[in-house]
Amino acid sequence: MAPAAAAPAGLAAVMLAVALLAASASAAVTYDRKAVVVNGQRRILLSGSIHYPRSVPEMWPDLIQKAKDGGLDVVQTYVFWNGHEPSPGQYYFEGRYDLVHFIKLVKQAGLYVHLCIGPYVCAEWNFGCPLQPSRSAAALELPEGHRLRLPSSTGQCRYRVNLEQAEMQKFTTKIVDMMKSEGLFEWQGGPIILSQIENEFGPLEWDQGEPARAYASWAANMAVKLNIGVPWIMCKEDDAPDPIINTCNGFYCDWFSPNKPHKPTMWTEAWTAWYTGFGIPVPHRPVEDLAYGVAKFIQKGSSFVNYYMYHGGTNFERTAGGPFIATSYDYDAPIDEYGVANFWYVFLLTMATSYSMASVFKSSTGSCVAFLENKDKVSYARVAFNGMHYDLPPWSISILPDCKTTVYNTARVGSQISQMKMEWAGGFTWQSYNEDINSLGEESFTTVGLLEQINLTRDKTDYLCVEIAQDEQFLSNGKNSTLTVMSAGHALHIFINGQLTETIYGNVEDPRLTYRGNVKLWPGSNTISCLSIAVGLPNVGEHFGTWNAGILGPVTLDGLNEGRRDLTWQKWTYQVGLKGETLSLHSLTGSSSVEWGEPMQKQPLTWYKAFFNAPDGDEPLALDMSSMGKRQIWINGQGIGRYWPGYKASGTCGICDYRGEYDEKKCQTNCGDSSQRWYHVPRPWLNPTGNLLVIFEEWGGDPTRISMVKRTTGSICADVSEWQPSMKNWHTKDYEKAKIHLHCSGGARKKFRRG
Ligand code: GAL
Repeated sequence: MAPAAAAPAGLAAVMLAVALLAASASAAVTYDRKAVVVNGQRRILLSGSIHYPRSVPEMWPDLIQKAKDGGLDVVQTYVFWNGHEPSPGQYYFEGRYDLVHFIKLVKQAGLYVHLCIGPYVCAEWNFGCPLQPSRSAAALELPEGHRLRLPSSTGQCRYRVNLEQAEMQKFTTKIVDMMKSEGLFEWQGGPIILSQIENEFGPLEWDQGEPARAYASWAANMAVKLNIGVPWIMCKEDDAPDPIINTCNGFYCDWFSPNKPHKPTMWTEAWTAWYTGFGIPVPHRPVEDLAYGVAKFIQKGSSFVNYYMYHGGTNFERTAGGPFIATSYDYDAPIDEYGVANFWYVFLLTMATSYSMASVFKSSTGSCVAFLENKDKVSYARVAFNGMHYDLPPWSISILPDCKTTVYNTARVGSQISQMKMEWAGGFTWQSYNEDINSLGEESFTTVGLLEQINLTRDKTDYLCVEIAQDEQFLSNGKNSTLTVMSAGHALHIFINGQLTETIYGNVEDPRLTYRGNVKLWPGSNTISCLSIAVGLPNVGEHFGTWNAGILGPVTLDGLNEGRRDLTWQKWTYQVGLKGETLSLHSLTGSSSVEWGEPMQKQPLTWYKAFFNAPDGDEPLALDMSSMGKRQIWINGQGIGRYWPGYKASGTCGICDYRGEYDEKKCQTNCGDSSQRWYHVPRPWLNPTGNLLVIFEEWGGDPTRISMVKRTTGSICADVSEWQPSMKNWHTKDYEKAKIHLHCSGGARKKFRRG
């Protein structure tokens, strides 16, 4: 037979199409009303989200193995479009973005993959989509107004950020083709059993009606035509057209049913807690409540639960969405940011689902499984069942796999609790370099009016320097004047005649800023400059692609000789990025190109560098940045992320009772403290000696108190035989000692079991 390559191109394409059709016709993964069916077998699938770019490839095998040990069958991940296509047509699939390698590792571990192609990802990921290429030019052409970015009309990356549907189709097709050519779908012998198109598009349809519905149906058809041979799902999408399965995301999903009776009931995001933001407390979810939520869902006869997140990881570089999403994406997940499994947590999650293997409560062979529930948020309930009495703790479910014996109750803990300890592992000797924002570089330009920041920076940098142009004279009488600056966000430094006068910033709820204050002007002409900072682009919300950042005005001065002056429509000079960024001070070459001096304490807008050797051992590492204010860290040129310990969390923390409905504000820590103090340093980024650590500090901190720490585990072993409400004082991490019998058997860690 002639080799395929010898066949004419058209014929080869037809042959390929026929082969794919045949393959998908005999697809090994299907579904019915009860479950996803893999190779003819209905499966109860326990899944967990691990996002590959939020850790380093060297961590992947261990994370996946821990997920397997934790009882998972499936690993779910988004595909991160803007990481894979950093500029139009330029693709990147290396390092942390080596998607194929990640999927192959999951296969090697014997697990399945749920591939959420999206390609829009929400995920607290910077912008969730690529920036559309034409935006900058289009915005600058706009002659008047505040030069808002173009409003988007249809689509998700299309809808939300004005990317063309064709672009979305192109990227989705590229990923599908890549998976096919690597043989990664289940029918090809690969691990992918499910895929996802779009992400939580339903809410946009509720708001926008017909055009949004038309888009959803276009996206669904486009996906189905790709013939992937495994089911597509659409999460939070009540209108998901057949054969696409609509699924539930949330803290609880026991209320949920799919839009057609022949589809299985699936929970694609069971939120294990919530993300951390700079300036807000850190959320935790009591595992008793999560286990209860999951048992309730399974009790309904559902067959798929995905823990979002199972390993949250780290928002390296500037990948954190926003504004104000923290660098840690720990998510209080069963495997923590550093890759350490919280065994207590894993144990509970697994137990809650493993008995559900018999989701048929009574089978024809006579086997019987019972779930007994107590919905009361306060008190025990005594229930009579099958001729026996059962005492059920409040807000819990007991599982009786033989309809007699309680083997598990979601509120009863029978395992160990591990605590994170950060051990000092070294300090640094610093040199410093001052960022000079008073003389703008050659690439600066002058124009009339105030320009939107993201249009200008294209998100290549967080920074935009904006200065009133030199030829714009306004005369002060030398008395105090009142300056008003309004900005769309997210943070701002104001300089009068080169002196830092004020620093302001928004918050997670509202990134907008208004500065109004007395400023001391010189008699004669004065310079007003602002350094405007974006702290992560939004990733969720209607048309979030049109949300602005930067100083859009009005900017006014009161108390001049002439009275009030509106500066909004004067000439302004712009410089995108910092000088240190242009010089690549974060890299070895760049940092050698300038003279560094002795560090000065509490000096704002300063670059620091230090060399260090890798600490011994193999414990995960972090930088303790508690003595610093705000900005960014690099090690050997790699972005550790944005830091901001100077932004103290405001909110309510305190006693956490697992009983009653959970939401992300219920059980929080770090009130009045930094939202994030420690910053993960992946060991594989270090050389044994001579590592370059570079920091850019905006506020002025004390670098001499920065230290490297090792993340170790201090264990509290808690064997609990009687029920007690899990009440933790999150401030002191004090567990109710009177009620818990502490039992440490020789310090050995008890391995969690599978049901
Ligand atoms: C969901 C979304 C996820 C993530 C989550 C919050 O609505 O689908 O991508 O953003 O919220 O962590």
